[in-house]
Amino acid sequence: MSNTHKWWYDAVVYQVYVRSFADGEPVPGDGIGDLPGITARLPHLRDLGVDALWITPFYRSPQKDHGYDVADYEDVDPLFGELADFDALLARAHELGLRVIVDLVPNHTSDQHVWFRAALAAEPGSPERARYLFRDGRGPAGDEPPNNWSSVFGGSAWTRVADGQWYLHLFDSTQPDLDWRNPEVGDMFEGVLRFWLDRGVDGFRVDVAHGLYKEASLRDQVIPEETKGRKKQAESMVERVLRDEPMWEQPEVHDVYRRWRKVLEEYDGDRMAVAEAWTQTAESMAQFIRPDELHQAFNFGWLGTPWSAKDFAAVITSSIAAVATAAAAPTWVLSNHDVVRHPTRYGGGEVGLARGRAATLAMLALPGSAYLYQGEELGLEQVDVPPEARQDPSWFRTGQPGRDGCRVPLPWSGSAPPYGFGGADGTQPWIPQPTDWGGLTVEAQEADPDSTLAFYRRALATRRTVFTGAEEATTAEADGDLLVVRRAGVTVVVNTGDLPVPLPAGEVLISSTAVSDDGMLPPDTAVWLR
Ligand code: GLC
Repeated sequence: MSNTHKWWYDAVVYQVYVRSFADGEPVPGDGIGDLPGITARLPHLRDLGVDALWITPFYRSPQKDHGYDVADYEDVDPLFGELADFDALLARAHELGLRVIVDLVPNHTSDQHVWFRAALAAEPGSPERARYLFRDGRGPAGDEPPNNWSSVFGGSAWTRVADGQWYLHLFDSTQPDLDWRNPEVGDMFEGVLRFWLDRGVDGFRVDVAHGLYKEASLRDQVIPEETKGRKKQAESMVERVLRDEPMWEQPEVHDVYRRWRKVLEEYDGDRMAVAEAWTQTAESMAQFIRPDELHQAFNFGWLGTPWSAKDFAAVITSSIAAVATAAAAPTWVLSNHDVVRHPTRYGGGEVGLARGRAATLAMLALPGSAYLYQGEELGLEQVDVPPEARQDPSWFRTGQPGRDGCRVPLPWSGSAPPYGFGGADGTQPWIPQPTDWGGLTVEAQEADPDSTLAFYRRALATRRTVFTGAEEATTAEADGDLLVVRRAGVTVVVNTGDLPVPLPAGEVLISSTAVSDDGMLPPDTAVWLR
């Protein structure tokens, strides 16, 4: 079977941020979403019309980075339920025709993982320490970090332990990086893959897939004078410039994915993996999806594109060309749990939402697979979370607002927090929800044919009927402020300018906001024409 006929090739995947989706049993009303909460709300995803869900980490974890700090890769954290809850979720999803992708975090463990605890208890130079990157410090007393690398979350990437050695953590100090040059590490993760494949998962989202290997010398990073001191946090990850990065994108990382591909192919049913790889170029992103490596990689170039017809056209064209060299599927994503929600990025308010819907409609016409982030189907915006409620480790390390604002628990029903998110006892969610979300709940939007939810449902249903073949050629060009995409006899037009323009001829299959019959396409609007 060719790739273009596999389920994931043109799948629409919905990202569930587990602690913010829905709070069900067994800990009702603790204000934290969990696996039974997801299971109970799966019909929402079926009605939305997505093909699959990706669930962020729900494994045992001290939750310093909300599950991206894993203490046990083969168990469910009691906050979220237990293994039987995962099995029930998977079975119900499959009954509803939904595939399930789980998150795999191979770059680092939690500092509470049994390996790291053993490493701390052992001597420098011991086999226990050799699973991580422990080094002696620099300077006469060894009290300076072994190199100049910074943590993605701010500050040094090194922390010193009691006996004077330092360990590397590219993220928080509670997330020590593993040493993938140690064969024990690869063997451990093959076991983890098999554990979840045996349980029946359909795929994996690979966290920090461009990490894992560091240049063996652990040499200093060359940092040009003009970029020194620039904060590197979630938002600025999208505007990366080409730089010297001895900690990312090392060639050896591709051997890991060749090994995993073989494991995935031993299993029936088209199991897949998608890389979260913040690569510097579209070409290096394509290396992760060569035929013997992973199946997909997130296309962060699309997410980082400003509201401009010219830039959208350029990114569409270069993304399609880059994946073609790897004979793989393009992917498209506008929002996730690490970045500012896209309506807010496009200016917020009514304009931001209109642009957000237009960009989504353009995305859903593109070939390959699209990833949606929970809450975008409700038109949610980034929330300004009050400092005392912030939990993102990057907030604690840098004093910058961090990523909590895109992680606010979903509003399901009712007119006041917790909007049906949690148990009936009214316990408030782990981040406070805005008090003006009453009109944005699933319940309110289901009753309104012009709502963002109704629009997403229509868009996904129309995509299914219009784009039936995955192999159609796609072209994208900018005509002044208009983005024009052509695929499968459908023309997508997005007006990124400030003025209405004459609507090109053709039947309007769907528009991102209402188009009146005056023959004009308003600003901040997209249409599919045939
Ligand atoms: C990825 C995740 C992010 C997490 C980081 C460290 O970028 O998407 O949420 O903080 O990896 O695991």
